[in-house]
Amino acid sequence: MRLISALTTSLLLSSLSTAAHLPKDEKLLSPLPQQPITQDETDDLAKVISSSSLLSLHRALVEVESISGNELSVGELVVSTLEAHNFSVTTQSVPDVNNASAKRWNIYAVPDATKYSSSHDSSPAKNKDKPAQPKVILSSHIDTVPPYIPYSLSRPKHSKSASDILISGRGTVDDKACVAAQIQTVLNLLSTSNSGSSSINPTDLALLFVVSEETNGSGMKFFSNSTLYTSISSNLKAVIFGEPTEGKLASGHKGISMAHIIAHGKAAHSGYPWLGHSANSMILPALLALDKLGDMAPKDGGLPRSKEFGNSTVNVGYMTGGVAANVVPKFAEARVAFRLAGGTPESIRELILGAIGKADPKGELEVDIFQGYGPVPLDTDVEGFESMVVNYGTDVPNLEVAEGVKRYLYGPGSILVAHGDDEGLTVRDMERAVVDYERLVRHALGL
Ligand SMILES: *[C@@H]1O[C@H](CO)[C@@H](O)[C@H](O)[C@H]1NC(C)=O
Ligand SMILES: *[C@@H]1O[C@H](CO)[C@@H](O)[C@H](O)[C@H]1NC(C)=O
Ligand SMILES: *[C@@H]1O[C@H](CO)[C@@H](O)[C@H](O)[C@H]1NC(C)=O
Ligand SMILES: *[C@@H]1O[C@H](CO)[C@@H](O)[C@H](O)[C@H]1NC(C)=O
Ligand SMILES: *[C@@H]1O[C@H](CO)[C@@H](O)[C@H](O)[C@H]1NC(C)=O
Ligand SMILES: [Zn+2]
Repeated sequence: MRLISALTTSLLLSSLSTAAHLPKDEKLLSPLPQQPITQDETDDLAKVISSSSLLSLHRALVEVESISGNELSVGELVVSTLEAHNFSVTTQSVPDVNNASAKRWNIYAVPDATKYSSSHDSSPAKNKDKPAQPKVILSSHIDTVPPYIPYSLSRPKHSKSASDILISGRGTVDDKACVAAQIQTVLNLLSTSNSGSSSINPTDLALLFVVSEETNGSGMKFFSNSTLYTSISSNLKAVIFGEPTEGKLASGHKGISMAHIIAHGKAAHSGYPWLGHSANSMILPALLALDKLGDMAPKDGGLPRSKEFGNSTVNVGYMTGGVAANVVPKFAEARVAFRLAGGTPESIRELILGAIGKADPKGELEVDIFQGYGPVPLDTDVEGFESMVVNYGTDVPNLEVAEGVKRYLYGPGSILVAHGDDEGLTVRDMERAVVDYERLVRHALGL
């Protein structure tokens, strides 16, 4: 087999999304069917949203389409919202490798120290040139998967409760619920800090909203590698990442690797196959071998298993080859994703190449491995939260943190609906997220 260089990496990356590929019946977990409703009721529901700053911010965010790559408008909305609340905002232009004139930003925001009085100015003479060194960063992403689905409200039959209102539309869960809840959380904490009733120091808090989580993590990778990050991270104690976890604290998520395999054969009339060389026949044994790696015991060469993360899984997600039944195929191609319960990217690479090597002893296939990352352990040392392992990828591994910095992953709503047509969550989920984020921040600050 031959290793082809990284030119296809961005294509591979494009399937590195938060999507857990789910069997259809898991959709049963989505909320019960909704009643068609009258105009009066629609107005009632809209009033509930308008009367809450959390819910109206959430609605405004969802109403702006922001499919990965097109995050400029929603970014402008986030910036203006934060500036209106006296945050000092830094935007960070993230390059689009395919379009130099495309614009979109990461957004980093801290409470403006001149507007939010702090009773904690014990720090040696405020240095105007030195940016605040937050202890906690709350972070989520402002892009969504396609297609855009408009914002809508409904309420289950027989319910009169505002908490039961279901908010649907693209991004309502993933990840604009987290964006809105994290902003509201910091505002709540700042207002208690102003009233002096608690010991929150405004300069301990920061917000970070990034682009392109759903495609390739380029936003968070860019932030992680920036002088901005280095200049603000000396006091960092925790990063709270927002992704849908059903209101639980994720104890970790699986790692990922991907393989892209190409076979070049020789076309011929199917009546005279010996005159050609079938690319499909070349690639099939390798795909079969990879497909079994999840079910094979690690001692027999299968993918790693672990107590925390369960079994690694394999998805032969894409394959194509040939042009017609009566033509010996000269080209075949496949893409395979591995969700990893253990191992390092390097060890997994060796394992995958080994399995392909056995199936392709003549080394005819071209193979490109995207190494990704191993399983990501997360912190759960906060009382009163249920924990869960999640099977999707996040931006967590894309942000390098110093030893000892805690990483929490929490968000309202379920991943099982997040990328589907029925993406949605309830008002109750949203409100609870703010309470929970506050608890996480206080815990991280030792309060
Ligand atoms: C922002 O700061 C200004 C000046 O200190 C103050 O008048 C205004 O009320 C603040 N706005 C918010 C939303 O806190
Ligand atoms: C990452 O994906 C975005 C679209 O979400 C694209 O604009 C950008 O060029 C990609 N970056 C890299 C490094 O592939
Ligand atoms: C590149 O981005 C600019 C600015 O957003 C946009 O007007 C243009 O259509 C994009 N070009 C391509 C080829 O996508
Ligand atoms: C990180 O930033 C440095 C300096 O700005 C740059 O040279 C390097 O290519 C970046 N690395 C990545 C992985 O983006
Ligand atoms: C892992 O795979 C083995 C073999 O297929 C199976 O017996 C076991 O139940 C699986 N474990 C989990 C946690 O899915
Ligand atoms: Zn997400």
